[in-house]
Amino acid sequence: MAKTVTLTIDGKEVTVPEGTVVIEAAKKAGIEIPFFCYHPKLDPLGACRMCMVEFETPRGNRMMTACTTIATNGMVVHTDTERVAEFRKANLAFLLANHPLDCPTCDKGGECMLQDTVYKYGDPHSRYVEPKRHKAKHKPISPTIILDQERCILCWRCLRYLDEWEDNQELGRFMRGGDTIIDVFPGTELKSKTSGNIIDLCPVGALTSRVSRFHYRPWELERTPSICTHCSLGCNLRIDVRTHEVRRIVARSNEAVNDEWLCDKGRFAFKYVNSPDRLLQPLVRRDGKLEPASWDEALSLVAERLSDIAAKKGGDAVGGIGSAKLSNEANYLFQRLFRTRLWSNNLDHRDGADVAALPTGIPSIEEARKADVVFLMGLDPDEQAPVFNLFLKRGAKRNGATLVLANPRHTELNRYDGPWLRYRPGTEVTLLNGLTLAVVKAMKSSGKQSKQADRVLKWVSRYTPEKVERVTSVSRDSLRAAAEALVGGERPFLLYGPQVARGERGKAVLAALGNIAMLLGGPERIGYFGLEANTQGVRDVGLHPELLPGQRPLDDENARRRLKQIWGEDVPSQPGMSYSQMLRAAAEGRISAMYIMGADPASENPAYKSALEKLDFLVVQDIFLTETANLADVVLPASSYMESSGTFTNIERRVQMAPEAMRPLGQSLPDWIILLRLANSWPQPEEAVTKKGKRRKASQKEWRYHHPNDILVEITRVVPMYDGFDSRLTLEGVQWSFRAVESPVHLQPVKFEEPAPSEEYPLRLFADHLLYDGGTIFRLSDGVQELAFKPFTAVSPETAARFGMEDGEKVEVVSPSGSLTLPLKLDDGLAPDTVFIPYSVPGAPVQALLDGDGFAFVRLEKHG
Ligand code: SF4
Ligand code: FES
Repeated sequence: MAKTVTLTIDGKEVTVPEGTVVIEAAKKAGIEIPFFCYHPKLDPLGACRMCMVEFETPRGNRMMTACTTIATNGMVVHTDTERVAEFRKANLAFLLANHPLDCPTCDKGGECMLQDTVYKYGDPHSRYVEPKRHKAKHKPISPTIILDQERCILCWRCLRYLDEWEDNQELGRFMRGGDTIIDVFPGTELKSKTSGNIIDLCPVGALTSRVSRFHYRPWELERTPSICTHCSLGCNLRIDVRTHEVRRIVARSNEAVNDEWLCDKGRFAFKYVNSPDRLLQPLVRRDGKLEPASWDEALSLVAERLSDIAAKKGGDAVGGIGSAKLSNEANYLFQRLFRTRLWSNNLDHRDGADVAALPTGIPSIEEARKADVVFLMGLDPDEQAPVFNLFLKRGAKRNGATLVLANPRHTELNRYDGPWLRYRPGTEVTLLNGLTLAVVKAMKSSGKQSKQADRVLKWVSRYTPEKVERVTSVSRDSLRAAAEALVGGERPFLLYGPQVARGERGKAVLAALGNIAMLLGGPERIGYFGLEANTQGVRDVGLHPELLPGQRPLDDENARRRLKQIWGEDVPSQPGMSYSQMLRAAAEGRISAMYIMGADPASENPAYKSALEKLDFLVVQDIFLTETANLADVVLPASSYMESSGTFTNIERRVQMAPEAMRPLGQSLPDWIILLRLANSWPQPEEAVTKKGKRRKASQKEWRYHHPNDILVEITRVVPMYDGFDSRLTLEGVQWSFRAVESPVHLQPVKFEEPAPSEEYPLRLFADHLLYDGGTIFRLSDGVQELAFKPFTAVSPETAARFGMEDGEKVEVVSPSGSLTLPLKLDDGLAPDTVFIPYSVPGAPVQALLDGDGFAFVRLEKHG
């Protein structure tokens, strides 16, 4: 049991864990001590003196800071004496001596710690008549943050955050005495991807948001606790709305998920919600043109056409693409509509069934934070989950965790000097089998003998360090260092992302990583890190061609019986097609109609676009007229997640609420209402045709949901892992057990024939996701576009020299399936023979070059 100490504050006895600072002990006793520089997530500093209180000592009472003094047994503290009150008044007077008092125009006015503290503890009359010092005002220090040096009270919270969490000392103290300022270093600006947290941390209005500047007064805002949907971590945040417009996003504390941090995408990329480009009424194609229509007209047309095609050609002729950016409720109803109204299991989302994911995501965020060795493959958290990146950096810096990086590209985490397995893309399986062999050897030399290791040895003995070096370019030393780190760790943790998990290659990668996890302790040592907000939830609720809700196989009799009981209808048992299979089938005429909700395949790949053009009927439900929506016969305008209530399940299986923060804009409707109305306007069919040509009698039940919570209640009945969640759901979310689903991870030999480059295509394409991408949501969020990267392709200087190419010139990247022309960047952090292109570049869809495994051999050609 943790040791405790008992002290007395203002006559009240309070017991706290050993090591607690007095300011926290006072909080526990219900006693407020004012403060500025103190913050529970930052190291104590004692800079502002606002928390000075009296401590009884053998030599009389002494004034000391409550934020840096550790509580001890028998300590006696007084916070309400005249001396303390006088000290507070004087301290505040000094702080105000040079403060500009521009509260009426300061964004912080109304929620400023200085303002509130002065009202409560300060002197209402100033004794100063002298002119105030002037410093820089309205100084942009990044595309999203403004610094006002006059308002700064020098608490150093901002500097400390950047140092202690970001590990990037991007702000400094300059000058001396009363002239002291904080500032960026000359010629620089803040680059950290979580820099916006310093706005929340700043107790005054010295650091404010350029995106929200002058867009609200704090007391006018309607504040709704919610979550971020930009990545799969599910950071907790608050949505502040005024007059039907989102005005700002601030972080909300959830110790288990994001502590109290947000990344800059989550904080600043929100204006897409009120973008003038939002779709605000249904559209129907007439004479080749999309024209406004009523909801009734649009929905009847969708119901008629889809049911007609399914009746004539069978449900297998219809494909449904949902979205891991949307809620559990929306995706649950979508799959119910497909399975019962259309008799089709053609259901998926991007990076769904095409990816070798694990059914349980990652064991827990906490486990990753505590791990002493973290192995990352196909994942760059700095670009894909920046708050998770903060945790990894802190683990490395504070706890000495070793980060082992398997990535063809240099990432921010390379700063921590862990082993870097910089492999040639496409050689993942060789690398992992070689690493498995190195792990077995490291286990043997450290005396960790096991039968498992002997078994595995037989499968991987040919993946010698020499072979691995020749094929992957990873040196023997790096391989050995990685293996030793993994074997030496007490809580090693392997994480992989979709970048290495696609197609057949992805299955082999998972199997090979699974072997290492088993050697290191078992299935709980490995996690799949999907990238979208509801990657886990869509799988749980059955948006999958081979899984019913609850991640049950299609032939699971219990699951089918449960669904029949609750839905009153049968569901098809033939496996459906995955995302890429459906689009291929559309291109080949095997699918005649598609319903796409919250996805934009046409923008990902020109081949997908031409496949969609071939359909007899296309329905798109989205918040924007995307490239895909532009091809549709009917466009259904959905509301954003902020205009509806729903739940999302994050990467550690935590189901979290996202309540409605504002009313739907225009005629747009929440996804669940659109699906509900559509299902209930479905014509009653006589019979439908199954895949095998059999006819079945269709029985159609009316859907009765009055609120998203009704859908959640039903989900908790059909998804066993969610049992009881509807009543247990709090703002912190509820996590389902890692052990509720059997892990597919086990020891197995891994065979995968890695293709070799040819003379025609000598290079390897590596595509990955960057944070500030050109996706619709980011592109249409005013205020952040300056952060977005410009389209580029990158190679190492050696590769460029080999092909006689120079930095900045336009080059053509050619693969067997297509070509893209992009400006060339030289990047000395790239693996040899590798060409890098980021995903989500408008006008440069890298998928056009990739094969089904997300890989391609390419060549470079001079442009023009
Ligand atoms: Fe403190 Fe704000 Fe000044 Fe930074 S800018 S030192 S957080 S008052
Ligand atoms: Fe204690 Fe600033 S809060 S010195």
